[in-house]
Amino acid sequence: MKVCVPKEKNDYERRVSLTPDVVAALIKAGFEVLVEKDAGLNSYFDNSGYEKAGARMVADAESLYREADVILKINAPTPAEIGWMKKSAILISLMYAGTNPQVVEACVRQGISAFSMDAIPRISRAQKMDVLSSQANLAGYKAVIIGAAALGKIFPLLMTAAGTIKPSKVVIMGAGVAGLQAIATAKRLGSIVEVSDIRPETKEQVESLGGKFIEVKGDASVKIEGGYVKGVSDEFLKMQQALIAKHISEADLVITTALVPGRKAPVLVTEDMVKSMKMGSVIVDMAVAQGGNCVLSEVNKTVVKNGVTIIGESNLPSLLPLNASELYAKNIQAFLLHLATKDGFKWEMEEEITKGSLIVHNGQAVHPSVAQTVTA
Ligand code: NAI
Repeated sequence: MKVCVPKEKNDYERRVSLTPDVVAALIKAGFEVLVEKDAGLNSYFDNSGYEKAGARMVADAESLYREADVILKINAPTPAEIGWMKKSAILISLMYAGTNPQVVEACVRQGISAFSMDAIPRISRAQKMDVLSSQANLAGYKAVIIGAAALGKIFPLLMTAAGTIKPSKVVIMGAGVAGLQAIATAKRLGSIVEVSDIRPETKEQVESLGGKFIEVKGDASVKIEGGYVKGVSDEFLKMQQALIAKHISEADLVITTALVPGRKAPVLVTEDMVKSMKMGSVIVDMAVAQGGNCVLSEVNKTVVKNGVTIIGESNLPSLLPLNASELYAKNIQAFLLHLATKDGFKWEMEEEITKGSLIVHNGQAVHPSVAQTVTA
């Protein structure tokens, strides 16, 4: 099977779906690997590295897509790129299929099969394929680093002959994968860290990393299913905002990571809360691409409001392209070797990982999140 790696063309994307190490492993497993020229350059993997690993370099994207049995990508291809694929070909990429009907429709029209990396079930045996975790982990680290760089002060307590500097206070909203890594990173840099989440089990996780938990008791409107927040009422959010307001006003750095899968991110930081913050403090809104946890954040912009710097970087993993590509490539290697051998895909349709991540099969939209809504 010819496994093909196109160059990522989206703005703000520097990652690549396979690294030379993983190319070598797939070739050893019997696959043929083709890589678009310069696909790895933005993540510091040059063409010669891929060639040494045994890949064949292809000069243009269209030829690569037309030849591919399997396309491995980070972001979903455009409908035009999908239009170059063979009918029997298979796409593996992030798709966010529930909110991306045009990509799903293009796969249906083309008669291909498509798996979405973001739909892989979060079960123990799929952890090594879990790109949401591998990328969120790095994003949580980077959020602290860019936040720290934008601050006019240091994180740790410093006692010098010239006087004592008090440690910075970091407030982190949301203690999922990204939030927990942000806590660990901010603690390592020496700040005081306060954290809030509405899943009760996060209290112990936060405290084990040295964070102070800001308790916000859920009400009947807080729906939690399978470890995820599924929704909260507007009244609850107002109550939550009031409870966290004092902590935000005293913070030097606020990092917001709160997400409700499939919905707009909850507003946790209002305009009044930003006004209450100290001049020179910083907010990194990690939920900016899903509508933002802070009302004043703007996608892919850094804005200054009332002396507060608000960073709205939408693709934090891409700012660590080397590590992010390494982990993504390992995730996709594990996923591909789960689904296929060098001779073809297994199509174990009742197997949990296959069933959970297969969006389109031979031109049929089969995933429950899209089967009702997509038309060719
Ligand atoms: P996420 O990215 O969907 O959400 C981030 C965080 O925001 C979550 O902790 C959520 O509770 C929090 N949040 C939502 N609304 C909030 C609000 N109004 N205020 C404060 N915080 C709010 O979540 P992520 O990081 O993708 O995963 C979290 C869950 O998934 C956890 O239960 C985790 O254990 C589970 N998980 C399981 C894995 C596995 O078993 N393989 C792998 C990774 C995560």
